[in-house]
Amino acid sequence: MIKIDWDLLHKSAKTAMKSAYVPYSKFPVGVAALVDDGRIITGCNVENASYGLSLCAECGLVSNLALSGGGRLIAIVCVDAQGEFLSPCGRCRQLLFEHGGNDLVHMTPEGAKDMAHLLPWAFGPDNLDK
Ligand code: THU
Repeated sequence: MIKIDWDLLHKSAKTAMKSAYVPYSKFPVGVAALVDDGRIITGCNVENASYGLSLCAECGLVSNLALSGGGRLIAIVCVDAQGEFLSPCGRCRQLLFEHGGNDLVHMTPEGAKDMAHLLPWAFGPDNLDK
């Protein structure tokens, strides 16, 4: 069982948040995740003048996951400008489920919660096999 260093993930998410490009919302988000091979990957939100095209921090994270070698997401911390734990939006929960499944754990103000709690009865790759 891989050890989750929540402090390191929190610190990494706060660092990533500082790179956010948020001229429109002024709401920077940073995210950091532990991958099953032990590496830590990060992401930040990147907005666009065509507002609906803005990329959430989790989009950057999953792109970095693929680019840096793939693997399964084990644990994740998402933060706002104050470094407070942030709830991933619905679309991002689906993105994260694809790469972490029900066992992926998120840090919340109430402690670590798994994906089965945050996105119950999720649609995912297994459904396409049926
Ligand atoms: N945002 C994220 O990056 N991730 C989330 O899970 C929630 C929302 C971003 C999108 C937008 O750039 C800003 O937060 C305000 O909605």
